Amino acid sequence: MKKKTTAKILSQKSLAPGIYDMWLECDIAKDASAGQFIGVYPNDKSTLLPRPISICEADASKSALRLVYRVAGKGTAEFSQYKEGDGLDVLGVLGNGYDLSLLKGKRVMLMGGGIGIPPMLELAKELFCQNEQLSINEKSEIIIVVGYRDDKTFLKEDLEKYGKVYIASEDGSVGTKGNVMNAVEAEEIEADVICACGPMPMLRAIKKFASEKNIPAYISLEEHMACGVGACLGCVVKTKEVDHHSHVNNARICTDGPVFLAEDVEI
Ligand SMILES: Cc1cc2nc3c(=O)[nH]c(=O)nc-3n(C[C@H](O)[C@H](O)[C@H](O)COP(=O)(O)OP(=O)(O)OC[C@H]3O[C@@H](n4cnc5c(N)ncnc54)[C@H](O)[C@@H]3O)c2cc1C
Ligand code: FES
Repeated sequence: MKKKTTAKILSQKSLAPGIYDMWLECDIAKDASAGQFIGVYPNDKSTLLPRPISICEADASKSALRLVYRVAGKGTAEFSQYKEGDGLDVLGVLGNGYDLSLLKGKRVMLMGGGIGIPPMLELAKELFCQNEQLSINEKSEIIIVVGYRDDKTFLKEDLEKYGKVYIASEDGSVGTKGNVMNAVEAEEIEADVICACGPMPMLRAIKKFASEKNIPAYISLEEHMACGVGACLGCVVKTKEVDHHSHVNNARICTDGPVFLAEDVEI
């Protein structure tokens, strides 16, 4: 169920230069799960469309959602100015998210690059909670590999609560120098399945790696979006299978995704 609602900002702080951490109170929190996102509306009417931001954490008991975002342009710059108690219009919950049932009993490698790291936190948390309900041989092993630009390792401590965390940094100041794939190689990490979110070159490298290892990779495509609700075709990705509605090899990232099996999409 998606709807437009006004959320109240519970807190906002900066985690690193240009990276903000916002908790929102909104009733749609109870419907949110890992890999899904919400549309956040800027108040500035010259920037009409909602900005898609992933669920970093959802706390149904407090009707609260956590968003962690990077200031990229006008909309996100406006969000960064908001203070506790301010109202914010949001649309959600949007997108398909990760299917946790496919990850049971597997060595699951969660891979996040830059601003693709936030959705990995909710996924790690949900997998950890799922494990608590499962018998020993159904539990997933949670392996987390995250890539940063430098030593501003935002969300690292949060992720460490749920699994073993490996770090890569572009400037080599922390962890393996390079990107997440360099860390996988250096640490000789093995997995049965990958869940990933990050920039397109990282997702392409993961798709190739998964294909070589013959393991599934579920990747979240955080590409440009407009309406966010399937109406404008502003977010299509080429797919292997023909869509049975439109009869073309296309899927809409905002409604069919953002999470896809890597081998099903051309990226
Ligand atoms: C499903 C989904 C989930 C997302 N989750 C997050 C998140 O959790 N945290 C976060 O920081 N960002 C996330 N993004 C990206 C975020 O939506 C954009 O950074 C934001 O919409 C930019 O809005 P703006 O008004 O600040 O910038 P704009 O003025 O619209 O754009 C500023 C610059 O950023 C570029 N840009 C805009 N959107 C994107 C994009 N999607 N990818 C790459 N470059 C872009 C533009 O081309 C332009 O150069 C997500 C995107 C999608 C599609
Ligand atoms: S953003 Fe409009 S169809 Fe996906």
